[in-house]
Amino acid sequence: FLIKSHTFCICARIQYERIGNDVTMQCGSLDNDASVTWKVNGTDVKARRREEGPRLILMEVNMSSNGLYSCFQNPDGQRRDQINLRVGLPPKEPQVTCRSNTYPKGFYCSWHLQHPTYIPTDFEVYVQHNQRPLEVTRDEVHKNRCHVKFPELFSSFPYWVNVTAVNSLGRASIAISFEESSIVKPDPPEKVVAKPVANNARRLEVTWNSPSTWPDVETFPLKYFLRYRPLIRDQWQHVTLSNSMSQTSDLYFFLPNKKTAAKDMEIGTWSDWSVAVHATPWMEEPKPITSTTESDIIPGMHELPTVRTPTLLFTVMAVPSVISVLS
Ligand SMILES: *[C@@H]1O[C@H](CO)[C@@H](O)[C@H](O)[C@H]1NC(C)=O
Ligand SMILES: *[C@@H]1O[C@H](CO)[C@@H](O)[C@H](O)[C@H]1NC(C)=O
Ligand SMILES: *[C@@H]1O[C@H](CO)[C@@H](O)[C@H](O)[C@H]1NC(C)=O
Repeated sequence: FLIKSHTFCICARIQYERIGNDVTMQCGSLDNDASVTWKVNGTDVKARRREEGPRLILMEVNMSSNGLYSCFQNPDGQRRDQINLRVGLPPKEPQVTCRSNTYPKGFYCSWHLQHPTYIPTDFEVYVQHNQRPLEVTRDEVHKNRCHVKFPELFSSFPYWVNVTAVNSLGRASIAISFEESSIVKPDPPEKVVAKPVANNARRLEVTWNSPSTWPDVETFPLKYFLRYRPLIRDQWQHVTLSNSMSQTSDLYFFLPNKKTAAKDMEIGTWSDWSVAVHATPWMEEPKPITSTTESDIIPGMHELPTVRTPTLLFTVMAVPSVISVLS
């Protein structure tokens, strides 16, 4: 059978243009006096336009101008070019935040654009400390994130981070600076568990683990802050944990499994709150219903406890602390 051969490349080239601009598309390298017919997505071009020999000029392009434009030379109708028109915007300054949840190992910075550009946009990241550029590693999972190791600890020099957004239509950059300690923020405590204590209606045991991302709890211990409220209320009660066991109200005790230094200095900021868990204190076995009227007795049904024991909700957060000897 017959295979029609093409002497031109069938891969369309991409032409990026700015929204609102008048856009000129040139059909290959045809001369000014060539006559061509343009199609978009295989149909006639309907947008506001001018045609000048081998050129198609679209007026004030917008998102609906995107498409695959093909030009065919008259009169033989042979296709001479294909242009993939992508309409978009140059980037504006990205927003950048940096944070260390793995202190003292390093920190990460992430960035995003507040306004879409509609076309592929890349980012260049440059980090400097004490007039020295630092190595920047791109995150493998999060496209808009990079990691940097602390070159030294307790440094008084600020860090400078410069992120530049670049696409075919332009570039914009922003530089931020910060002190080491101001970006330290652990992840929330993990595996928070609250459970009743057997035979004790006035006690609940609450335990948790330090965030698994925190590399060295021995050298950089965390201090915790706990809050709780009855499930049916909105108001939280706050508890600063200064030792391994705290009495927080007349009724309940909390037993954290983490000791914190008696005298310490906080570095950085508190983590976000952990996932909330709830528990109800131990209750005596409810008694079966004793009723005089036959019709009220439903077999197997038990009386509800007359004293309503509140179910409590707990969450925990953490902050790094240095024992005062260090400071
Ligand atoms: C895009 O431009 C065309 C004219 O070329 C116009 O008909 C259409 O309404 C415009 N669309 C938007 C979303 O502005
Ligand atoms: C061409 O097709 C694409 C989808 O394949 C569509 O998004 C675009 O709006 C079309 N362009 C025109 C001008 O019809
Ligand atoms: C960020 O770095 C680029 C070079 O990569 C430079 O052109 C730009 O001026 C810097 N921006 C700021 C705000 O320092």
